[in-house]
Amino acid sequence: MAKGKPWGGRFEQATDPTVERFSASIDFDRALARFDVRGSIAHARMLGAQGIIPEGEVGALVAGLEAVAREIENGSFPFDAALEDIHMNVESRLGHHVGKIAGRLHTGRSRNDQVATDLALYLREVSAAAQRGTLELRRVLVARADEHVDTLLPGYTHLQRAQPVRLAHHSLAFVEMLERDGGRFADLRARLDRSPLGAGALAGTTLRLDRERTARELGFSAPTRNSMDSVASRDLALEFLAAAAICMVTLSRLGEELVLWSTSEFGFIELADAFSTGSSLMPQKKNPDVPELVRGKSGRVIGDLVALLSVMKGLPLSYNRDMQEDKEPVFDAAATLRDCLEVMAGAVATLRVRDDRMRAAASDPMLLATDLAEALVREGVPFREAHEAVGRVVGHCVAKDLDLRTLSREDLRAFHTAFPDAAAALVDLESAIERRNLPGGPAKERVQAALADARVRLDREQSALEAAKETP
Ligand code: ARG
Repeated sequence: MAKGKPWGGRFEQATDPTVERFSASIDFDRALARFDVRGSIAHARMLGAQGIIPEGEVGALVAGLEAVAREIENGSFPFDAALEDIHMNVESRLGHHVGKIAGRLHTGRSRNDQVATDLALYLREVSAAAQRGTLELRRVLVARADEHVDTLLPGYTHLQRAQPVRLAHHSLAFVEMLERDGGRFADLRARLDRSPLGAGALAGTTLRLDRERTARELGFSAPTRNSMDSVASRDLALEFLAAAAICMVTLSRLGEELVLWSTSEFGFIELADAFSTGSSLMPQKKNPDVPELVRGKSGRVIGDLVALLSVMKGLPLSYNRDMQEDKEPVFDAAATLRDCLEVMAGAVATLRVRDDRMRAAASDPMLLATDLAEALVREGVPFREAHEAVGRVVGHCVAKDLDLRTLSREDLRAFHTAFPDAAAALVDLESAIERRNLPGGPAKERVQAALADARVRLDREQSALEAAKETP
């Protein structure tokens, strides 16, 4: 008989030690311990209420499980690899506390519906935390944007200076991306509202479980609708990983801008000492390791998503042990994302903005070539024709090394007779931005309204997150 294993009856040999090591998941699935205990308490209460186990034993089972929860909390729980996974560890420890009646707990339950339930509870928690993390970073970006409504810098396409914008406008672009990133975690939670518990191994049970009751007690709105789907599916874990990977890509791009902007070549920002590192060899260096690592760790979270997609893609219904491989990618992505959101918030909150360097770069008059073409459009010139004429003006300035703003009305008229004024009057940095006053544009009024609106949305989202918190 196989010692310690609840399936001992059927087996004559003990598990080979290599198999024991190979198949054990306790080193990582201990992260599910709290959720496993919570699920077990709900299950035990339901079994008692349904008269499936003696009501009188429920109190002892719940007290025993609470003792286990305390041991997990204070780090004294004796995790045992011979017991394979967290489910058997908890059950065995319960036996230590309450004796033989612990054997009643697994009535009408399989580790298959148990692990699916644990994972759903875990995903609910980490997706709320991830959303909160994006929210905190957004708050920092909005606060920094607020300081820099009047800081002008070039906006880039192809990493070539394109048109001038406000730094606040640039920061708010990341706020938008992070709001959608946070929204993906909220969307996922709407789908994480069904309890797999009671699906059994795959086909439920002959015992009269009350699935509605355990669902409610665990904060789900209802039981899952199909027992096979309940134990066979990991799409919600995949969805978490996809949302995490997308969010990491946002962070990676923000990180890349911080790296680029802190070069001597750009010199747009200086990271705080507390968020930079030195070189062990070159005394002059201050390196942007934090945003670089965030950029690097995006690769790891993308890998987590690809790993689980690959595990799942060929599996027949319903549960297969392959699915034990779901956990490490999910845990890794959740922890990595949490840390990256936190350090990025710190780095952005503390970096110094070099307004002077940004404005100097934004003052490149070539950034206003489009405005010159639009001045012709206002005179009734077709845009293509205006674009061509201004292209020749720019070519002339480049060839002769001239500042565009020094061209007189006559100079301009040599390129197109419709130019209404001297270049200096047509291309002014401040008014160029102010004229970009469409919804979503960088004009001051628009940016200030966008900031106010972003703050309202942040408060609303925060209240919704807090209201959702009190579900058990
Ligand atoms: N440790 C397992 C997992 O994570 C729990 C479910 C085991 N079920 C089984 N039939 N072996 O998937």
